[in-house]
Amino acid sequence: MYNEIDLDKIDINSEPPTEEPARQYYFMAKCRGWVQEFKKKNGRCPFFFTQTFGCQMNARDSEKICGILETIGYVQTDEEEADLVLYNTCTVRENANNKIYGRLGYLNGYKKKNPDMKIALCGCMMQEKGPVEKITKSYPFVDIIFGTHNFFKFAELLVQSFETGQTVVDIWEDTEKIVEKLPTVRKFPFKSGVNIMFGCNNFCSYCIVPYVRGRERSRKPEEILSEIRSLAADGVVEIMLLGQNVNSYGKTLDNPISFAELLKEVEKISGIERIRFMTSHPKDLSDELIEVMKNSSKICHHLHLPVQSGSTRLLEKMNRKYTKEEYLSLVGKLRKAIPDIAITTDIIVGFPGETEQDFEETMDVVRKADYDSAFTFIYSKRTGTPAASYEDQVPEHMVKERFDRLLKEVQEIAARKSMQLEGKVEKVLFEHQNEQDEALITGRLSNNSVVHVKGSVELIGKIRDVKLTECKGFYYYGELYGHA
Ligand code: SAH
Ligand code: SF4
Ligand code: F3S
Repeated sequence: MYNEIDLDKIDINSEPPTEEPARQYYFMAKCRGWVQEFKKKNGRCPFFFTQTFGCQMNARDSEKICGILETIGYVQTDEEEADLVLYNTCTVRENANNKIYGRLGYLNGYKKKNPDMKIALCGCMMQEKGPVEKITKSYPFVDIIFGTHNFFKFAELLVQSFETGQTVVDIWEDTEKIVEKLPTVRKFPFKSGVNIMFGCNNFCSYCIVPYVRGRERSRKPEEILSEIRSLAADGVVEIMLLGQNVNSYGKTLDNPISFAELLKEVEKISGIERIRFMTSHPKDLSDELIEVMKNSSKICHHLHLPVQSGSTRLLEKMNRKYTKEEYLSLVGKLRKAIPDIAITTDIIVGFPGETEQDFEETMDVVRKADYDSAFTFIYSKRTGTPAASYEDQVPEHMVKERFDRLLKEVQEIAARKSMQLEGKVEKVLFEHQNEQDEALITGRLSNNSVVHVKGSVELIGKIRDVKLTECKGFYYYGELYGHA
């Protein structure tokens, strides 16, 4: 494992190895020399700041990039005015992109004060030609630009930037490679995301993810299980298995295995007390998975099952491969097998051609599926996706009006649903001290709802019984139950 590798034993004057991850450890050792020089010159460690946009995949990638930087000798800071600033970008909707351009403006000011500062950009937005061209042209002070397929190479790119002083741009179109055993740090000591697959093959017509994350690739089960065992040994009690469509996990491996089978293996790992996963595509959710969830004592009773639209006509145009009726029957099956399951979803409003009738179908699904919560998005046109060329884009005022109606409905249902748990006793994993009131510790139920409980920081990372004394709509107040 990485923590057994001694960077001091690597001969940085020899040629770099060609194999991964050995090659990256060589470059980390090389960067460390630079960090030592920095320390001598400045009398302190160099600081790095990262900000991550987008989904859990990006969050996990950032943890790996932070692992590389900490191995090199950089120290993480919350101050953006650091010696190295890295933004891990998202491009799923247009507004995600605009945020980056805004931030870069600020960074230019910081770099003028600290010319040795390094600015790096990575992630999904960097996989698109337009934004990269704009950045290299209009923001020439950016030092390193890399993408989603080669983030494991960050140390190598950093060396290149130190040695040449030029902007380093390295973007791969796609990859079949999965580089294992790189250093990583965790945001929380007691919980962690674990990638089980990368990329996406579904090509929903509105979505840019398959273009920026490449083809679907599953990690070998033995690599996943060994990572989870090490995490458990390191104090992790909750894991979240990550993939754009976890239900199609393992289909393309040399020795195919289903997601449900993988879950059964994960369940056996002692120390792991809670298992979550994201995201499930309704078209691939199997009866086998429902059965495994039902019989498991560790898999959380929460399923995120994006519906996107309730109109079968639009679902077809979206290339989702299920109908309204199929989706609702799946929800029915899940609720029958696991009565206390929380089902959450993603919904897009204003997909091209959406009529009032289509929208009413979505409202109908929202009522019938009885969602515990839902993320609602206004459709955003993404260059290069099939839907971007659909002619019948919906006028903005109409989308806004529908969005508000949907949000109101979703919130009313969610509030009513969470009332049902008021007064009940539930298991809670405590996560952090409450930001507004330090006397409270915030945790999550199995169904992912948030609860605030009076207690000390010693609770953090522990699972305890909590009585949910008051429901506040989207969260609860509770008290420890059965503890002296
Ligand atoms: N793989 C996941 C979703 C990843 S993207 C799945 O299939 O469920 C997260 C969410 O962003 C999607 O579920 C969708 O609701 C939303 N989304 C994706 N592309 C979008 C677009 N062009 N405009 C608005 N919302 C979008
Ligand atoms: Fe995008 Fe569809 Fe893939 Fe999800 S399944 S990432 S929505 S293309
Ligand atoms: Fe965004 Fe990329 Fe995730 S586009 S939602 S960070 S896969």
